[in-house]
This record gives sequence, C-alpha cells and structure tokens, in this order.
Amino acid sequence: ATVFVLNGPNLNLLGTREPEIYGHDTLDDIAGQLEDRARDLGLEIDMRQSNHEGHLVDWLHEAQARGAKGVILNGGAFTHTSIAVHDAIKGIRTPVIEVHLSNPHAREEFRHISYIGRAAKGTIAGFGAQSYLLALEAAARF
Ligand code: DQA
Repeated sequence: ATVFVLNGPNLNLLGTREPEIYGHDTLDDIAGQLEDRARDLGLEIDMRQSNHEGHLVDWLHEAQARGAKGVILNGGAFTHTSIAVHDAIKGIRTPVIEVHLSNPHAREEFRHISYIGRAAKGTIAGFGAQSYLLALEAAARF
C-alpha cells in the first residue's frame, strides 16, 4: 500500500528556511526517514512538493484514483487560505492527515485557522520532522 506525502509552498526550502522554527532537516532528509520507517511498516511512500495550490488539489484527486492508503499533507501556508484544498480533501474518501513541523496555534494569529484541519481526519503538529513519522504510524493503521 502507498501513502502519499504532499508538501506545499516553501517546504522545498527546509533546512535553510527559518531553522529555529522548522529545524535543520531538509525535505529529502524527511523523505529518507519516512522511507526507512515505511519499509518497516510494509508501506510505500510517494513524496511530493509544490509551491502551486492546484498541484496539491490534483495530487489529492490522484491519491484516491490510485487507491492510496492515506495522504499525509503539509499544506504550508495554503493551510490557512485554501478552500480549494479543503474541498479536495472533502471530495475524496482517502483519509488525509494534516501535519505541521511547527505548532501553528502557538504562532501568529493568522496561522490559527486551518482550512485543511477542518477537512482532515486528524492533525499532528509541533514535533518537527517527527510529525511526519507520527502521521505515518497513524496511516499504517488505516
Ligand atoms: C507549516 C506551518 C505553516 O503555518 C507555514 O505557513 C508553513 C509551514 C509547518 O509545517 O509548520 O509553511 O505548515
């Protein structure tokens, strides 16, 4: 079974982007950690990143079309703005886990609303790269 891991805007900059907030791991580092754990769990990972909102919408549809077991989604700033991503999650039956490296509730007011969180099965936030690994553990039990 495959778990899609979808990453939104600016997450390609991980490693150098505000490391005091997001840590020093790059997205490739996180992919490596996920792949190691996925192997133990008997899962496959399909990890992607885009700075474009529509790509996330298309990939959510694709996750369902391909029969993915689940989707781990870090929407980046689209979390707080995108009704289109919200509706895409609502529009598929594939369960979606919202993840964040940081804890948006402990940050600026404009990060306190999550359109993704309103549509997702659940949310894991604030544990850095480990948020993704915890989400994979959850997806393995779907
Ligand atoms: C983020 C939190 C968002 O508020 C922010 O816009 C990001 C990263 C996180 O993983 O902590 O780009 O999704």
